[in-house]
Amino acid sequence: MYRIASIGGDGIGPEIIREGKKVLDAAGEKFNFSIEWTDFGIGADRYLETGELLTGGDLSELSEFPAIYFGAIGDERVQPGILEKGILLNLRFYFDQYINLRPIRLLEGVTTPLAGKTPADIDFIVVRENTEDFYVGIGSRFKQHQKLLLEVERELYQVKFGLDVESDAEEVAYQIGVITREGARRVIEYAFALAEKRRRKLTSVDNANVLPDIYGLWREVFNECAASHPGVTSGFNFVDAVTMWFVKNPEWFDVVVTPNMFGDIITDLGAMIQGGLGLAPGGNINPEGTSMFEPIHGSAPKYKGKNIANPFATIWAGSMLLDHIGEPDAAAAIVDALGVCIRENKVPKDMGGTLSTSATGDAVAECIRNR
Ligand code: IPM
Ligand code: MN
Repeated sequence: MYRIASIGGDGIGPEIIREGKKVLDAAGEKFNFSIEWTDFGIGADRYLETGELLTGGDLSELSEFPAIYFGAIGDERVQPGILEKGILLNLRFYFDQYINLRPIRLLEGVTTPLAGKTPADIDFIVVRENTEDFYVGIGSRFKQHQKLLLEVERELYQVKFGLDVESDAEEVAYQIGVITREGARRVIEYAFALAEKRRRKLTSVDNANVLPDIYGLWREVFNECAASHPGVTSGFNFVDAVTMWFVKNPEWFDVVVTPNMFGDIITDLGAMIQGGLGLAPGGNINPEGTSMFEPIHGSAPKYKGKNIANPFATIWAGSMLLDHIGEPDAAAAIVDALGVCIRENKVPKDMGGTLSTSATGDAVAECIRNR
């Protein structure tokens, strides 16, 4: 028996998580395990009612679970950034989920916008650093003069910037990107280990030509790690070039490791080449702590409550969750079942089918039971 936390969140989040749980429960029946779900009412509704984003109580309760199954956050009634930073990023940072794993895989039967490319060409995985870079959230806006202490607090380290800035510009805004040697090393090491289990090819993405301090350090650490993994063919791509190659030659890639912000951008591109955001899952992983699995798309508020959202990405993220907690066969069975549903056109509207959100979940669950 596994105890797993779930956070439906906002918009279509609760609907897609409901279907994901249905499918994971079906996989449990088939593979002889069960899941005890604990739901957390975290999201816009509670925030609007009580002003709470994540409480100390939420965090200490959530830390008791090996994994969180997360839907989506984002709501029109709340200013952009509040929920994203206060809930999603806060969870990633608090639980030190330093690996953001995003498989880019074209399933058989799914249409890719890349002419002539097949599932054999589109099968790689992006390992996005998930706690540093421009996501540390330190910066400011000021006029003329400002003296400020900016801090990054992490389990691994602390950084304090004492800044005294003077300017005669009308107004100045700045945002600091942070990369640390240990922060880069742990995610790059993870990516090398993953490449060793796959096709032994690792590409690092950066922009060391323009931002040589932070991405120069990233590169240096990458080279050091490469030296201790001679079995992996490794190389660098600048981020602008990588967007070009994802489109032109996706078959070149096996594992891609990237700092946080570029990872955010290139995985949306990756989602499109694998058939769209409706098919793109992600895992926020702390190998020693509480990890979190979610679709990479957002809360799509305009589809809320209509039972039309596509739960595929969430179901796939659920498969990653099972793989993470030690149920690889059940995890593989779920991805197989998605493939069967695609072949039989048991898919929602955005994938060319007719099924509702709940009927799609039923179809995938049924397919697992009938294996
Ligand atoms: C993602 C999202 C988040 C990110 C936002 C909502 C903070 O775009 O998971 O890719 O930028 O990481
Ligand atoms: Mn994103």
